[in-house]
Amino acid sequence: MKAFIHLNGQLKIDKMEEPIAAKGEVVVSLHAAGMNRRDIYIPNRRESAAEPLILGSDGAGIIESIGEGVNKWSIGDEVIINPSLRWFDRSAAPPAGFDILGMPDHGTFAEKIAISAEQIEKKPDNLSMDEASVLALAALTGYRALFTQGQLKNGDTVFIPGAGSGVATYLIQFAKNVGARVIVSSRVEEKRRKALELGADLAIDTSSDWKKELANETVDLIIESVGRATFNRSLEVLKQGGRIVVFGATTEDVIELDLRKFFYGQYQLFGSTMGSREELREMLKHVEKFRVKPVIDKVYRLEDGLEAFRHLENSEQFGKIVLRIKN
Ligand SMILES: NC(=O)c1ccc[n+]([C@@H]2O[C@H](COP(=O)([O-])OP(=O)(O)OC[C@H]3O[C@@H](n4cnc5c(N)ncnc54)[C@H](OP(=O)(O)O)[C@@H]3O)[C@@H](O)[C@H]2O)c1
Repeated sequence: MKAFIHLNGQLKIDKMEEPIAAKGEVVVSLHAAGMNRRDIYIPNRRESAAEPLILGSDGAGIIESIGEGVNKWSIGDEVIINPSLRWFDRSAAPPAGFDILGMPDHGTFAEKIAISAEQIEKKPDNLSMDEASVLALAALTGYRALFTQGQLKNGDTVFIPGAGSGVATYLIQFAKNVGARVIVSSRVEEKRRKALELGADLAIDTSSDWKKELANETVDLIIESVGRATFNRSLEVLKQGGRIVVFGATTEDVIELDLRKFFYGQYQLFGSTMGSREELREMLKHVEKFRVKPVIDKVYRLEDGLEAFRHLENSEQFGKIVLRIKN
């Protein structure tokens, strides 16, 4: 079968062996796969590894075959892949054995995947295959960051730097659905406009003076994933005693932190990563209840995966990028 792989330091389309459903597994014929920033970090992590790896964490498709002992699913069922491997119940942190699909295990940028029947969920009825393929990783991450860790509630104000990010496009929708006030920042005017269209109440320029722009706001919660470029500036606009949740660091992991300012401000800092299957299922219910639509920036053919990688590397996107596998 055709797959987009990493091998000997290179990204390319190649032929890989068709997977077979082992005991407890299903084979999903993938219609589309979703890209995440993680996919572009993996070549650096693997360097010149000589074993081919099919990249990709997200995907949607149809069950094509079923292994021994799988009773819950039938051939022809439309499903999405849950890339949060072996993390089933909501917990303070992922359990031992947790991994994200797409390294070390083969991922979704291929015509087929064999995966544990515990790692698939029914495709939401209101979503197309393309839309469903970009949902799981980013929307689950956003859901846990916002609700489990961030404890967002009706009437709160949440600030999200980096409105163009895939996760941010879910954060905006989820937060509006529960009655929060949503403020975003973006470096790009067009993305600020799109964030407002998506429901944000206020969109400010990332390079503006945030303390001035947000002087009349009371920010209860900040969801940070930009990293060094914005973390300290975010803290400066958080209300005293407010919460800040970090799940990513696109612009560098290491920052300087003024501890005195931090403890005087009584701030609360939370880490977050992906989420459990329990949270994924809650998120899927939320998506169906509020008719959430993933924001798709661009659809590429699997064969044009390299072009899609460049697009994501340059942070040109607003929302998610699809790799279409079947037409
Ligand atoms: N821990 C987890 O489980 C988890 C899960 C998903 C993602 N993540 C991480 O979270 C981050 C966001 O993920 P994503 O896939 O949503 O990201 P993404 O789509 O790649 O978007 C990143 C956004 O960061 C902003 N940005 C980039 N460089 C910037 C700079 N120099 N200054 C200010 N803003 C900048 C951009 O927003 P504008 O263009 O709008 O300014 C960009 O759209 C990534 O670091 C990713 O690795 C972690």
